[in-house]
Amino acid sequence: MSRTPLIAGNWKMYKTGPEAVETALTLSRLCSKIQDVEVMIAPTFLSLPLVAASIEGTRIKIGAQNLYFEKQGAFTGEVSAAMIKAAGAEYVIIGHSERRLYFEETDTSVCRKIKSAIEEGLKPILCIGESETQRDEEKTFSVLDKQVSDGLKGFGPDELAQLVLAYEPVWAIGTGKTASVDQVGQVHQYLRSLLENLFSSNLAHTTRILYGGSVKPENAKDLMSIKDVDGALVGGASLDANNFIKIIKYK
Ligand code: 13P
Repeated sequence: MSRTPLIAGNWKMYKTGPEAVETALTLSRLCSKIQDVEVMIAPTFLSLPLVAASIEGTRIKIGAQNLYFEKQGAFTGEVSAAMIKAAGAEYVIIGHSERRLYFEETDTSVCRKIKSAIEEGLKPILCIGESETQRDEEKTFSVLDKQVSDGLKGFGPDELAQLVLAYEPVWAIGTGKTASVDQVGQVHQYLRSLLENLFSSNLAHTTRILYGGSVKPENAKDLMSIKDVDGALVGGASLDANNFIKIIKYK
């Protein structure tokens, strides 16, 4: 089974509702003839239902940037998987390094969030990646190993059928520094064999593994041509539809 590439835009804390809708509408026009690539955008929670309604019926999928793992209750400021699904999302980004860094996300909370996403039928995009210090100390593979095995603890391969992994080296996010083709290739191959060891060869074969970190129109083709890279998770370069479309059309 071949893996359809996924090009996903993480809009982080950018754009008001009207701005998000405008960008989404422009993007949907630019994407009308796109085939063989799945496109997803993840606006803020506030913009998500507006964007979903404005591009309903187009080829663009919607994702959320986070969720809270409880189903409902007295959790001021939080949003559940069911609420995200009802607002029109198909995907949810979980464990982004910015959440790990600024909002005390841990592998344990990541694991609970993945469970909640799966139970609600949302496709989780699990973000993992090493910091610059960890890479310098040659801890990259052990860091990834822990993030994947603890983040996905307790699941069987069937439950993870819709999982997407996103390798985002922290030192490459928003810095303009992209990991080299060799670095990305090595890590993605490692992640695929890790999925095989932890779960099954079938899951390792079907799971899409995205690269994220300073993906731009200029480097998208090289990155996407690497074996075991099945798409991109794009931050800054996804905010402008005319720029993002160049990455979507990387071929
Ligand atoms: P940049 O593309 O801005 O480096 O961000 C990557 C990212 O964090 C996507 O989730």
